[in-house]
Amino acid sequence: MSSIEIKEGLSFDDILLVPGYTDMAPGDACVKSRLIGDIYLNVPIMSAAMDTVTDAKMAIALALEGGVGVIHRNFKPQQQAEEVEKVKRYLNWVIKDPAVVDQNATVADLKKMMKANNATGIPVVNRNKRLCGIITSRDLRFCTDDSILIKELMTKRVIYEKGIPTVESAEAKFDKYKIEKLPVIDDNHHVIGLLTYRDMDKKRLHPNAATDKSGRLLVGAAISPKDYDQRIPLLMKNNVDFGIMDTATGDTKESAAAIRDIKKKYGILVMGGNTVTAAATRRLIEAGADAVKIGVGPGSICTTRIISGCGMPQFSAVLDCAEEAAKYNIPVIADGGIKYSGDIVKALAAGANAVMIGNLFAGLKEAPGREIIYEGRIFKEYRGMGSLSAIGAGSGDRYCMKPGEDPVPEGIEGRVAFKGDLKPYLHQLVTGVKKGMAYCGCHTIDDLKEYRQFVKITGAGLKESHVHDVSITHEAPNYSK
Ligand code: XMP
Repeated sequence: MSSIEIKEGLSFDDILLVPGYTDMAPGDACVKSRLIGDIYLNVPIMSAAMDTVTDAKMAIALALEGGVGVIHRNFKPQQQAEEVEKVKRYLNWVIKDPAVVDQNATVADLKKMMKANNATGIPVVNRNKRLCGIITSRDLRFCTDDSILIKELMTKRVIYEKGIPTVESAEAKFDKYKIEKLPVIDDNHHVIGLLTYRDMDKKRLHPNAATDKSGRLLVGAAISPKDYDQRIPLLMKNNVDFGIMDTATGDTKESAAAIRDIKKKYGILVMGGNTVTAAATRRLIEAGADAVKIGVGPGSICTTRIISGCGMPQFSAVLDCAEEAAKYNIPVIADGGIKYSGDIVKALAAGANAVMIGNLFAGLKEAPGREIIYEGRIFKEYRGMGSLSAIGAGSGDRYCMKPGEDPVPEGIEGRVAFKGDLKPYLHQLVTGVKKGMAYCGCHTIDDLKEYRQFVKITGAGLKESHVHDVSITHEAPNYSK
């Protein structure tokens, strides 16, 4: 008999959570979770840094519902930074330190200022810089003389907020006074912010949005040990919230050195990865990673395990890595292999703070992949970043390929069924997660992480779990085989 002990590796399909005593309904579950540093998501879900999954459109749609997108790296550095900017600009709560105009300036000055700031309304200040009015494009509509002073045209009885406005306080003023802009002032009557009706309306429509401290949507961006010096300065200029090391395996000398350098030079939050063992997770944390992403080969389009013979079933990988990361209070993210909402529950229960999803999002309307009509049905293109065509578009270094090298892919190109809008689809996923939490009596993600009641199942158990001995006549929105 061999002297080596071969460890057992389990995937999501190999286990179930054992239901426990519960005093709650799914609606009582709180799915808010810490993602990285002091950034929290209202929904513990990220969209993958893949060129058929996440550009600004997907990142905006997901962050509006409480998750976060990671802008892929097949964009050139400048383009990637522009995508980040689109997300950060989408939702303004309070515009900080907005442009103000002196009451003695002329209409000509104001027009220039409005154009430069892309603004339709500007607070007016007196010579002590105190708020004394507001002027909007409506006030200029019938003004033909550009030399007129602002104080002749402005609205003098200006409505404002003092201190930090809440949605309720701002809403009350917008509704009562039928105004478009609401300046925010400090105790000295100096303008410190500006609220617009349009932004407030967006905020009202998306109360669960995942935002930064200034109320802008959260967004991450993929970087690599080879390109971080070109990308990070551009990304930081556009207020990216964190970078993720986008490499097939992060347990490398180069990756750890890059994280060390990034933390020293830029101080930005950085997610290391990918890892599948406790030792690799520890190495990245010691290098300075603020979170670690887990998974080698679980992705639906991945062929890494088949081509290289290497990898780790994802449930075991998350369990081992999360245990190690918890010693340092560092979050881990389970990346790849999510087929149903139940897999998200299993990943979180294994210790993940969030999951990263490619496949399930690639068919959504907001995903950047092309629509394909095949045999009368609509699909969307979904390809691995290690597939031939994605490598051709730039992602080869994720798989240690040098430019011009004959590609040896670690992923495939395919299609997934068109799924419509993100919002209702995400609702299905998140409610599935809440159902799982309720079956286990776990009110929070931290409760679920501590629960740890798993049962290993057999092939017969999995068969029994899925729909069996029946033909589906009406497909459910959250299940298809
Ligand atoms: P899902 O299962 O959601 O997984 O489709 C998405 C994750 O898969 C990883 N990824 C790849 N892995 N070859 C790989 O081995 C590839 O071509 C490839 N492309 C993406 C990535 O971590 C993603 O988040």
